[in-house]
Amino acid sequence: QTGKFTYDPGFLSTASCNSTITYIDGDKGELLYRGYPIEQLATNCDFLETCHLLLYGELPNAAQKADFDHRVTHHTMVNEQMQFFLRGFRRDAHPMAVMTGLVGAMSAFYHDSTDINNPEHREIAAIRLIAKMPTLVAMAYKYSIGQPFIYPRNDLGYTANFMHMMFATPCEKYEPNEVLVRAMERIFILHADHEQNASTSTVRLCGSSGTNPFAAIAAGVACLWGPAHGGANEAALTMLEEIQRNGGVEKIGEFIKQVKDKNSGVKLMGFGHRVYKNYDPRAKLMRETCHEVLTALGLHDDPLFKLAMALEKIALEDDYFVSRKLYPNVDFYSGIVQRAIGIPVSLFTAIFALARTVGWIAQLNEMIGDPEYKIGRPRQLFVGATARDVLAINKR
Ligand code: SDX
Repeated sequence: QTGKFTYDPGFLSTASCNSTITYIDGDKGELLYRGYPIEQLATNCDFLETCHLLLYGELPNAAQKADFDHRVTHHTMVNEQMQFFLRGFRRDAHPMAVMTGLVGAMSAFYHDSTDINNPEHREIAAIRLIAKMPTLVAMAYKYSIGQPFIYPRNDLGYTANFMHMMFATPCEKYEPNEVLVRAMERIFILHADHEQNASTSTVRLCGSSGTNPFAAIAAGVACLWGPAHGGANEAALTMLEEIQRNGGVEKIGEFIKQVKDKNSGVKLMGFGHRVYKNYDPRAKLMRETCHEVLTALGLHDDPLFKLAMALEKIALEDDYFVSRKLYPNVDFYSGIVQRAIGIPVSLFTAIFALARTVGWIAQLNEMIGDPEYKIGRPRQLFVGATARDVLAINKR
């Protein structure tokens, strides 16, 4: 009979797989990419070194780095036809709607790298996706503000090239500010992979059907968009702006009261995590970067940053949050840093997708590269009606 079972959401929200890519210890607040602590990677490596590590399992030596950088750099342009796909969107389309479309559309442009079971195809699809995501995100941004697209430059590093495509115009070069480029690079590194989060599990499940790499990554982009996941950085900034509009730090108590009221549905966006039940190690690094950027830009008196610090203080001291282990996560500070760099809030999650693309690909390739892999089929716990007969409509 129905009602016999108690529904256990935790049972349905877990999937399991073996992986050698990323290790998280939620209690210790530890995050390792292929065994390297995120703190060391974010301090000593650039994003493409981190991509090489995630994809191939090792940090590159000088020759390997030069080769990998060259291959990525020489795939940064996109097929000219893609701009006409992009131009089909309204100018005010959300960048994540655009990115979900553009990444999926890559399946139609790069036929020579769509056979997911062919290791060479997987390799070139990986290089193309890592190389073209910055170009596509910058194109989505330029399109939304009515400015012409800016082509990538092969004389710039990966991150400086992205910022050039974002902020240069045909009339004016973009002079990269080293502190901002390094901050953007750190955002890319910190968001590159995070073991079996919702979007990565989506990519694995989607790719397990044998669909092409671009379609599988497009599914990850769509999942990341959600405010409980990658959309949290945009939601965190929107939350701060709304508190600021409603009186700022002076009125923060009223907002906290709303958060504590279960019926309000109001959450402290950028706080809490499915795995980290202490500090998110990425948040610590992002907080440092936040201070560096705001100091470099002379924005330490930025009211939103002050508001963020006040919220963080409350979350770290107020028993309601401490008892629920709701610490700031990476999304809380990354939004403030991106806003200071001049990135519109609506583009934050697209940038998260840009960074996470290498993690999605590494996880997908790990699964597909295992000869034992089969199409995914998550289990269910059936708690619905047991068998019964159909009655004629006049008897229902
Ligand atoms: C990312 O998985 C990943 O690794 C994801 C990610 C990645 O790199 O891929 O790290 C990126 O998605 C980071 C998380 C970003 N999301 C947010 O910042 C959105 C706000 N956070 C919440 O939605 C929430 O914290 C989750 C979804 C992130 C985690 O939720 P959990 O661990 O499943 O915990 P829960 O929802 O069961 O909450 C436990 C308690 C509940 O209260 P009680 O029912 O016990 O009274 O804490 C409360 C929740 O109501 N709670 C919050 C809260 N998060 C949880 N209350 C207020 N504000 C919040 N942010």
